[in-house]
Amino acid sequence: VNCSGQGHREVPLPLPKNTSILLLSTNHLASVSTASFQHLPELIDLDLSYNGLSALQTGTPMPLLQELILSHNALELLPSLQGLPALTHLALAHNNITQLAPGHFRDVKLLKELNLRGNRLRTLPEEIFEGLAKLQDLDLSDNTLEELPQGLLAGLELETLRLSGNQLRTLPSGFFPEEHMFAYVFLAGNPWRCDCDLAYLQGWISDNEFSV
Ligand SMILES: *[C@@H]1O[C@H](CO)[C@@H](O)[C@H](O)[C@H]1NC(C)=O
Ligand SMILES: *[C@@H]1O[C@H](CO)[C@@H](O)[C@H](O)[C@H]1NC(C)=O
Ligand SMILES: *[C@@H]1O[C@H](CO)[C@@H](O)[C@H](O)[C@H]1NC(C)=O
Repeated sequence: VNCSGQGHREVPLPLPKNTSILLLSTNHLASVSTASFQHLPELIDLDLSYNGLSALQTGTPMPLLQELILSHNALELLPSLQGLPALTHLALAHNNITQLAPGHFRDVKLLKELNLRGNRLRTLPEEIFEGLAKLQDLDLSDNTLEELPQGLLAGLELETLRLSGNQLRTLPSGFFPEEHMFAYVFLAGNPWRCDCDLAYLQGWISDNEFSV
C-alpha cells in the first residue's frame, strides 16, 4: 500500500488488513505510534522516511516487522526496539541522533543492516552492537565520531563497515577483529593524524588493502 507524498498528518485509516508493505514516506507525520499498525498483523515493511518525524512510540509490538525505514526525519533519540523481534533492516540515516544507549540493540538479534549515516554521534558505547551476530552492513558515516572503543566490533561478522566523513584521528590497536575479512571498509574523509598511534591502522590496511 503506497500512501507516500499525500500530505497525511496522521496514519491514514482504514488500511487493508493484509497489508505487508506500507509506504508512508514524504508526508507530515510528526509523531507516530506503532499502535496505529496493530490492525495490520502481516506488516513486514514500513517506510516512514521524509516526514519530519520527531518521535516514534514503539510500545505496541510488531512481531513480523522486518524492515523499518526512518531516514530523513528529526529523531533525536533512537526509538526503543523492544517488540520488534523480526527486524532485519533498520534505517535511521539523516536524523539528529546524538547518542546511543548501551543495550539498545539487545532485542533485535536478527538485524542485518543498520544505517546511522548523517546523524550527530560523537562516540559509541563499547558494547552497543554486542550480540548482533547477523549484522552485515553497518553505516556510521557522516557523523562526528571522534573516537571509537577498542571492542566495538567484537563478535560481529560484518561484510561492510562505513566510517567515512567523521572526525577520527586514529583507531585503537586491535579494533578490527583478528582474522575477519571484510568485503568493504570505508575510511575516507577523516582527519587521520599521521603519528605512531596510527601504526596499527596502517598495518591493518596493508594486510587488507583489497577491502579498504
Ligand atoms: C508511491 O507513490 C509515490 C507518489 O505517488 C510515487 O512517487 C512512488 O513512486 C510510489 N512508490 C512505489 C514503490 O510505487
Ligand atoms: C488483500 O485483501 C484484498 C481484499 O480482501 C484482496 O483483494 C487482495 O488480493 C489481498 N492481497 C494479498 C496480497 O493477499
Ligand atoms: C537538529 O538539531 C539542530 C540543533 O538542535 C537543529 O538546529 C536542527 O534543525 C535539527 N535538525 C533536524 C532535521 O531536526
